[in-house]
Amino acid sequence: MELQHGPLLYEGKAKKVFSTNKSDQVLVHFKNDATAFNALKHSEIDGKGSLNCQISAAIFEMLKKQGIPNHFLGIENETWMLVQKVEIIPLEIVVRNIASGSLCRETPLKNGFLLPFPLLEFYFKDDALGDPLLTEARLKLLDLITTQQKSEIEKLALAVNDSLKNFFQGLELTLVDFKLEMGLNCASELVVADEISPDTCRLWDNRCEDENQRILDKDRFRKDLGGLTEAYNEVLSRIKGLS
Ligand code: TMP
Ligand code: ASP
Repeated sequence: MELQHGPLLYEGKAKKVFSTNKSDQVLVHFKNDATAFNALKHSEIDGKGSLNCQISAAIFEMLKKQGIPNHFLGIENETWMLVQKVEIIPLEIVVRNIASGSLCRETPLKNGFLLPFPLLEFYFKDDALGDPLLTEARLKLLDLITTQQKSEIEKLALAVNDSLKNFFQGLELTLVDFKLEMGLNCASELVVADEISPDTCRLWDNRCEDENQRILDKDRFRKDLGGLTEAYNEVLSRIKGLS
């Protein structure tokens, strides 16, 4: 059966999701919109959608080869990806290897401090509430996942961290931290979903010492550093083995 485009199911800040004629597959369109601070800051950046779509596709393929289940099925064109239809768990799962961002704003840890263990944190995915960090007790109280799902999610997130850290290290990039979303596909399997790109990871260039110049992720936009497309392009070039 040939794949046919259906109606829009959902529009997020950086992506649109469309149904298809296959009940277990959806199409994701990566937009050029860049947002930060819960969309208080917004801009359109030419080429960002295409870069994130290609980078995400390469990462999902790499993870699949390593046996890490994810929603990726194929790339349709520059900004369109075919993925499994997934019921997203409303949690942002963050893994940190090095202190940066909100961890430095909310604790005395300094930017760049190497954490003694990967720090796994759950945030409640709710724009109206500003995606708050959850305590263990609040996570239990909200009853969004079972105890077994929680341990499966933690195991999967740490496996993704190991794979990604190695992958990026091979490209002379340091994986500072990243955010994952997970969900259940039509076979009720837990899979990594959404995207994995410089919008959702912090990546520092090992070839560069300068604290700002080394940033190859969305912090360039958050901190008004400019050069976002060039940074994402550099990440993609290294993934393709061109740089
Ligand atoms: P944070 O330091 O701002 O909490 O971000 C941790 C990681 O999660 C970082 O790699 C950026 C990513 N992230 C998202 O992908 N989406 C978000 O909405 C936020 C706040 C962070
Ligand atoms: N993605 C979030 C937003 O659009 C925040 C961020 O990535 O900093 O607001």
